[in-house]
Amino acid sequence: MSVVPSAGNGKITVLSILERKSGISSNTSSPAKITCLTAYDYPTARLLDEAGVDVLLVGDSVGMAVLGFDSTLPVTMEDMLHHTRAVRRGTRHALLVADMPYGSYHEDPAQAVRNGLRFVKEAGAEAIKVEGGERRLEMIARLVDAEIPVMGHIGLTPQSVNAFGGFRVQGKTAEAGEKILRDARAVEAAGAFSIVLESIPRELAARITAELRIPTIGIGAGPDCDGQILVIHDLLGMSFGHQPKFARHYAEVGEIISRAAAEYCRDVQQGSFPSDAESYHARTEKVGAPVEQHK
Ligand code: KIV
Repeated sequence: MSVVPSAGNGKITVLSILERKSGISSNTSSPAKITCLTAYDYPTARLLDEAGVDVLLVGDSVGMAVLGFDSTLPVTMEDMLHHTRAVRRGTRHALLVADMPYGSYHEDPAQAVRNGLRFVKEAGAEAIKVEGGERRLEMIARLVDAEIPVMGHIGLTPQSVNAFGGFRVQGKTAEAGEKILRDARAVEAAGAFSIVLESIPRELAARITAELRIPTIGIGAGPDCDGQILVIHDLLGMSFGHQPKFARHYAEVGEIISRAAAEYCRDVQQGSFPSDAESYHARTEKVGAPVEQHK
């Protein structure tokens, strides 16, 4: 499957995402908001891609949404490459971004480049996402230098859960807000093409969005960002445990799956599944006849 952009094939690229920054598009003063969702497997990627989602993120949230961990910290490079390859096979139109997992870029910029290249060469990612602001400036610049487009991620960075003492809204005080603003400026200065703002006050997200030249993608950051992202399992009502207030359910797929599985169990136990029409039939009645004993 070719996913290389060519003129007019409708492929979303890093450049077309940059052009969607509020107020800088050549065509319109308010370009359409950027739509992003997470995806971790082939069928979900196909459905989201065909529905017209702009960006598919293979998030390290796969650890919590799919693999059953209580944080993203245990997710490995091999986990992320495996899921990114599956999403690649289902994605034609959307921009495919892969999350760098905890420990894959924390040693030094050389390690980050080595692992970033693996996402591009071995899994077909078109960009990668890293968490952190000012202290990642050199690393992001090195990734960009290696032709790997980078999406930043600041505010509530889930890989900092131990340092933050839990999954808490960030940037609520003036001082904390200023720190996040400096982080946003650093990510932009380092050359990132977009930045995720997670769980910060709406007012702060609006200020960052107004100041930066790259698009902001909000999650729990209010409606003023240039785009929005949600974890697909939250949107579909397939998550367990605490749900943040921004995780709007657009469907209750979890209930549909539970109901379907319960009905299947009932039909098997009652003998109504499979029916005769759902069974294969032999061409000759002899197939069902008792086998003759050889004497
Ligand atoms: O891992 C993830 O899914 C994310 C998004 C929620 C931004 O980082």
